[in-house]
Amino acid sequence: MRQIWIPKAGPPEVLEIRQAPDPQPQAGEIRIRVEAAGVNFADIVGRLGIYADLPPMPVVVGYEVAGRVDEIGAGADPDWLNCNVLALTRFGGYSDVVCVPQTQVAVRPENMSATVGATIPVNYLTAYQLVCVMGGLRAGETLLVHSAGGGVGIAAIQLALHAGANVIGTASARKHDYLKQIGVEHCIDYRTEDFEKRVLEITNGDGVELVLDAVGGVSFKKSYRVLAPTGRLGMFGISSAATGKTRSRLSFLKMAAALPWFQFTPPALINQNKGVFGVNLGHLWGEMARVRVWLDTILDLYSQGVVKPVIAAQFSFAEAAAAHHYIQDRKNIGKVILIPGE
Ligand SMILES: NC(=O)c1ccc[n+]([C@@H]2O[C@H](COP(=O)([O-])OP(=O)(O)OC[C@H]3O[C@@H](n4cnc5c(N)ncnc54)[C@H](OP(=O)(O)O)[C@@H]3O)[C@@H](O)[C@H]2O)c1
Repeated sequence: MRQIWIPKAGPPEVLEIRQAPDPQPQAGEIRIRVEAAGVNFADIVGRLGIYADLPPMPVVVGYEVAGRVDEIGAGADPDWLNCNVLALTRFGGYSDVVCVPQTQVAVRPENMSATVGATIPVNYLTAYQLVCVMGGLRAGETLLVHSAGGGVGIAAIQLALHAGANVIGTASARKHDYLKQIGVEHCIDYRTEDFEKRVLEITNGDGVELVLDAVGGVSFKKSYRVLAPTGRLGMFGISSAATGKTRSRLSFLKMAAALPWFQFTPPALINQNKGVFGVNLGHLWGEMARVRVWLDTILDLYSQGVVKPVIAAQFSFAEAAAAHHYIQDRKNIGKVILIPGE
């Protein structure tokens, strides 16, 4: 098999392809010939060397793949053989062959290609947990979503619009036309405008019912301040710590120092009627029965045309460094995919 390794922390160019014998599925696992693998911001944070969950380097990252099952481990259901599937992988997804517990695998709908399949697991499960499970977004409410043009952002927008909510998005200016086209009512270029001020202007001072924030640092404080009474803040990342193509301890410390360590106190939450919650899909491996229910719902929404994955760009394994640059240069509108092969 071919895999993309991170041998040491550094710029995208540290990524390297290595060959290894094909893995054999263990008990309860199935083996997938990968046709497409998703790239996530966590992979970049891992490459930078600031991702707490990352196994020690050298490491193969990758949280999701799609492809075809070609071998079944002992005790796994033989019906999986030759199925077209998508799967969550606990690292190791940047490979052309993976073995995963069958609980992390789902059959792809007939009209879903592998490339589209690889866009689904991380982005849509995260968005579903944020918007529908923990955020409880309802018709008539307003969602503020940061990094609205990214994979999770677009997934969250689709789910929010389906729920009948209004959407405000923050994103780099070049993404605004597209976001408006898909139904975002107001776009804010958070790099040139103060999003807190703009959200309060847009909502006539009322604020919003749900904010999704993976920027971290001071952004969490500002997002909390734009919540209307009964509003909820979903925190799920710290992308503002990833300021360059190599690790910056200073950026990480700045982000960490600006976190709202003392803002969300029980008296504040009670008296302001606000809620805050956290989401980390990578800490739900022990909750696959729960996650599978969400995934089945998402696949059903795909069949209904509600979930409409957007592929920003595809890169071959040999172009993995370019894929990481593409995201870090903020060029992606939607999901970035790696395709095995030369
Ligand atoms: N907790 C979880 O379970 C979970 C799961 C998935 C993702 N996440 C987090 O959610 C966030 C978005 O993930 P994603 O997969 O949707 O991202 P993505 O598709 O890779 O998009 C990244 C976008 O984030 C924006 N961004 C904000 N700060 C940035 C920075 N410092 N460097 C580069 N880009 C930056 C950029 O868009 P603009 O310039 O337009 O803002 C960029 O295009 C990330 O922080 C990720 O770690 C968390």
